[in-house]
Amino acid sequence: MSMPAFKTDAAPARPKLYSVEEAKQLDATTVRELFTAHVNPGQVHFLKLLGFDKIIVDRAQGMHYITRDGRKILDFFGGFCSVAFGHNHPRIVAARQKFQDENRHEICMAFMSQYASALAANLATIAPGDLDMVFLGSTGSEAMEAALKVAEQAQGPARSKILHAANSFHGKTKGVLSVTDSTLYQSQFKLVENRVKVPFGDIEAVRQALESDPAIGIVVMETIQGGGGIVEAPEGFWRELRALCDKHGVLWVADEVQCGLGRTGQFFAFERDGVVPDVTALAKALGGSKAAMGAMIARREIYMKAYGKPKTALIHAQATFGGMGEACISAIEALNVLYEEDLMGNAQRQGDYLIEKLNGLRAKHPSLLKEIRGRGLMIGIEFNDISETMPFGLKHMVALLDDKLKGSLCGFIGALLLKDYDMLVAFTEYNRNVIRLEPPLIVTREQCDEFIAALDDLLSRGITKIVTDYLRKVAVAKG
Ligand SMILES: Cc1ncc(COP(=O)(O)O)c(C=O)c1O
Repeated sequence: MSMPAFKTDAAPARPKLYSVEEAKQLDATTVRELFTAHVNPGQVHFLKLLGFDKIIVDRAQGMHYITRDGRKILDFFGGFCSVAFGHNHPRIVAARQKFQDENRHEICMAFMSQYASALAANLATIAPGDLDMVFLGSTGSEAMEAALKVAEQAQGPARSKILHAANSFHGKTKGVLSVTDSTLYQSQFKLVENRVKVPFGDIEAVRQALESDPAIGIVVMETIQGGGGIVEAPEGFWRELRALCDKHGVLWVADEVQCGLGRTGQFFAFERDGVVPDVTALAKALGGSKAAMGAMIARREIYMKAYGKPKTALIHAQATFGGMGEACISAIEALNVLYEEDLMGNAQRQGDYLIEKLNGLRAKHPSLLKEIRGRGLMIGIEFNDISETMPFGLKHMVALLDDKLKGSLCGFIGALLLKDYDMLVAFTEYNRNVIRLEPPLIVTREQCDEFIAALDDLLSRGITKIVTDYLRKVAVAKG
């Protein structure tokens, strides 16, 4: 039997690969085909339902996406808070460009990185109290994994039980998935069993849980629930939670991945209540809306207990891409921009204005709008459930497209805002009746007015016309 011949002298043949320039030029049909074949075929169904599958974004600048066919889309979505600085903020782009031109280094595992150290110091300076010790990663999930790990390591196995909130979202990686309260996301995965759930914002439920179960050593909650539909805890909740945690020796982990970094008008949303958690996490726009960057920040005492000795230090040292050079300098520049351009003040001012104007629209369109809530530029618009009010014939047609659409106006509103007004808004994982407005913190008064005028005009069409326009213009539109 003859052996197969191995060629050792020739380089492997180059497979047919897309070049960068070819990738930039791909048309919508090809992108849809590649996405279906290699990324997520099921997701294409939802992109098609909203008419988003026909759009190819060519560039993005400031508050706008610019499409291949020249449309300028006003971004009130903000990448679920990851575009806080707007698209391609000139100062952040220039800092990155200079860093590249100077051939600075990226990976910082062998040597101490001046960039990671300076960024950590900046975050410790900004964070209140002794929230001084920083772990750098690339995503919110990674930051939250680090947050739960530092708390568990400090508490020890006897107190490793985690109390979390109903309707919580803390990420989809294997650890934090256990405290992300979604049967859809948790699916059939084996979860961490050592956990207990209470309604969000219910201090009596927290009190009872902590009093009855000494194994609970960690409480984890978003300061404002984002995926749950922009939900705030009642006045006084965080101060009482802090007091309860102190009384029972429980560590409080505040997830600020969505609500942090100035979005509510203060750097951390928990600052409004004058309280300091034991551990917190940031991500999303931390990399200046240009780099993937997440951070866990822990109180020094807790960090030292968990990882403070040479013997324990490496349990936790950063992953390969933690503290990458260019990501760190993007974050350093972003933090300086946040203060120097008064973006937190702008978030507060424009947020107050939007909420006032949206409440005006609620008074004008009471059959459509149920509630406006939020703080700063983290705003939820809750629509009335229309499963009962939608005309029967339309209900049937809509249900044929997707069952999720039948009671919820958000899909129709979001699709038509994009189709007819070139405006982008965000949907909400757990509450299909809530549209999230989380625009970049650079949004102007004029852009807020533009958005309000568009929404008013669309709502003035009334339920029947909104649904039929959606069916005619988006669901059955070709090309
Ligand atoms: C509150 C909160 N925590 C954690 C995460 C996870 O962040 P990432 O998607 O970057 O992993 C998110 C993402 O939306 C979030 O909103």
